[in-house]
Amino acid sequence: MTERVTLITGASAGIGTELARVFASNGHRVALVARRVDRLTALADELAAKGGAAPIVIPCDLQQTDAGDRIAEALTTAGVEVEYLVNNAGFGLFGLAIERDRAEQLNIINVNIRAMTDLTLRFADQLIRNRGGILNLGSIAGFLPGPGMAVYYASKAYVLSFTEALRCELAPKGVRVTVVCPGPVPSEFQDRAGFAPGFDSAILNVAPDEVARQAYRGLMANKRAVLPGAFIKLVPFLLRLFPRSFILTAVGGFQLRKR
Ligand SMILES: NC(=O)c1ccc[n+]([C@@H]2O[C@H](COP(=O)([O-])OP(=O)(O)OC[C@H]3O[C@@H](n4cnc5c(N)ncnc54)[C@H](OP(=O)(O)O)[C@@H]3O)[C@@H](O)[C@H]2O)c1
Repeated sequence: MTERVTLITGASAGIGTELARVFASNGHRVALVARRVDRLTALADELAAKGGAAPIVIPCDLQQTDAGDRIAEALTTAGVEVEYLVNNAGFGLFGLAIERDRAEQLNIINVNIRAMTDLTLRFADQLIRNRGGILNLGSIAGFLPGPGMAVYYASKAYVLSFTEALRCELAPKGVRVTVVCPGPVPSEFQDRAGFAPGFDSAILNVAPDEVARQAYRGLMANKRAVLPGAFIKLVPFLLRLFPRSFILTAVGGFQLRKR
């Protein structure tokens, strides 16, 4: 039988690194994707030293349209099939969409939407054959419009909608599908996005390792969605109490003031 792996994108930092640790500690062989190969290699060495199966390191830029082909080739060369797919890689950019660089913003779509969709559809047959699962990193941002981070919020709305729909399609095939929707998580995300100082509220922070633990448990229990943190769990409910126009004004007022 072909050996099975958990493919994790964005494993070089933050939540992705912690997800790799959680999957490996639960006996999964992992295949690690990101651009920074030194980080991936160090993580692979760490996981192998703990006695897990040797991780597969796949340096790859998910902004490139051939990223899916390159990942598939690397897995074929290694002689493995995907059992679990973790679409974690992602980033956002803070500021007015009409002012920030257009090409950089289109790369949010390439990574958060295009690559995630490509890998999900491309490996669906393997996930079905192996009765595995998909864990997609959405965000609480996917539940509301985000002036001041418009493309990012919209990309996470796509992740949420796409993942829930796929869950319905894949349920009869025995594949678990879970979307994780964190609030603020301290990681490299904030620096890359260019957050203004004081933008994030430390009270709401949930650590990356805690997000990863809850996400893994949620996927294995085949939960539709995992919202780490007590307050974040309330957000979708609270949003239903207010008209969309009010939420838009409130989010815009907060985020645009922090610019
Ligand atoms: N941090 C938060 O507050 C927060 C909240 C809600 C949701 N999320 C979501 O959680 C996920 C992980 O975020 P994080 O907080 O762990 O961020 P992070 O620390 O910045 O890590 C992002 C990961 O994505 C990878 N990545 C980014 N662009 C890539 C590209 N072009 N090609 C390949 N890999 C790429 C990075 O690897 P390389 O740079 O090495 O390529 C890195 O491993 C994202 O989808 C994010 O939207 C984060």
